[in-house]
Amino acid sequence: MGDVRKIYIVGNWKMNFTPGEASLYLHKLSKKVTPGKDIQIIVAPSMISLQTLSLQVNRREFKLAAQNINGRDFGAFTGEVSAAQLRGIVDYALVGHSERRYLFYEHDKITREKVAAALRNRIVPILCIGETLNERENGETDMVIRDQLIGGLSEVVKEDMDKVIVAYEPVWAISSNKDAKLATPDEVEDAVRQVRKHVAEVYGEKVAEALPVLYGGSINNSNAGTYLRIEGVDGLLMGGASLIADEFSSIVDIAKEVRDERD
Ligand code: 13P
Repeated sequence: MGDVRKIYIVGNWKMNFTPGEASLYLHKLSKKVTPGKDIQIIVAPSMISLQTLSLQVNRREFKLAAQNINGRDFGAFTGEVSAAQLRGIVDYALVGHSERRYLFYEHDKITREKVAAALRNRIVPILCIGETLNERENGETDMVIRDQLIGGLSEVVKEDMDKVIVAYEPVWAISSNKDAKLATPDEVEDAVRQVRKHVAEVYGEKVAEALPVLYGGSINNSNAGTYLRIEGVDGLLMGGASLIADEFSSIVDIAKEVRDERD
């Protein structure tokens, strides 16, 4: 069909690996995983490993993402790391991951500042959004998607929207959550359509169409193909699977197959 949209495969390592382990793991990954045409592989190690890995990584193969950033550039913010400090070390940053929202009480004002800080510092924000099980059961999915999306993007001007990625990750589908369950392709397709609809309302159809929208939640090598083939899904944000080199590399191979089908 001549569709050459990039496919993003993002591995969020969460709070795993010491810096030494992270370095060895990246080395292992770079031997196993071969990126293909139009496939962008991104890994998000712990903050403490980023600088070492930035010296080690071949940026033509893998890009680095921070799992979090602070929305201010410098100042008296004990324990925080800013996008200004990460500039040049990472190309991407996760913003508003549900673990940040629900375990560390980050609300939309904070995600908005972080998205703006990322852009100000030439880092592509990957804005994560998604509803809890309770919210889905109460019929609030679309409202949550809209609020988190519009809340997170409210300082972004149209000209910068080509430097933003959105990841839809329903909290109830994340593997580390008790009773996690797989989202159905219809549920994902619906949510991703809502994302583009809300973006179109603010920024217009063209921007919405061009926006990369990823899916995350219990991705593994048996379901990656299904999720990647959903209309409107431009890639995957994976947690657990990204910690296993064989799994990671077979998911990248699946992405290559999907990419080739689109030619
Ligand atoms: P899992 O792939 O382990 O469900 O984690 C998803 C996630 O939270 C990625 O950011």
